[in-house]
Amino acid sequence: MDGAFCFKNGTHLSKLIGETSTLTRELDGASHRAAVACLLRLALPHVNTMPPSENAVNEHGYARQILHADPDGLFTVMALRWLPGACTPIHGHNAWGCVGVLEGEVGCETFDHRTCESQECVPEAPSLVSTGKLLAGPGTVASVDPDPCGIHRIFNPTQAPATTLHIYGMDLEEDPSALNKWYQH
Ligand SMILES: [Fe+2]
Repeated sequence: MDGAFCFKNGTHLSKLIGETSTLTRELDGASHRAAVACLLRLALPHVNTMPPSENAVNEHGYARQILHADPDGLFTVMALRWLPGACTPIHGHNAWGCVGVLEGEVGCETFDHRTCESQECVPEAPSLVSTGKLLAGPGTVASVDPDPCGIHRIFNPTQAPATTLHIYGMDLEEDPSALNKWYQH
């Protein structure tokens, strides 16, 4: 694994993909999320990628573009473009995931399953309670475990577009929607 976790000037997306390929093959699956998050944190300042076209923005105000699908289906890399006011439905993932902010700022609201009657539910997803919000700028990296952990929604509360880079631990080339478990009705 010579060269792993070593990003220097001139290192680009292909280096990140190569290192992710190595890690996901050499490490036990339970370690993939944390290891790839470390890798993404180190790589992010050096990654330069074109944002997805805003022509492909969906009804929620964001566009996504697959940049690489591992040939053995171990992971998928994609970029997302968030227009001002964009907001995903509340969702979990069917695989581990890591996300880093390349440009602009995005918000993330996290949720947990409701465990007692005194907890105030989220109107659009009555089985859930909100557990907090944060605003993340360039260089910020976060990671989530598969559903039922890591339930969240991402939004852009600013007046400027934002771009994020994502790595998910499953094959999404054929059907990117296979990633999400939606909670919002
Ligand atoms: Fe997500």
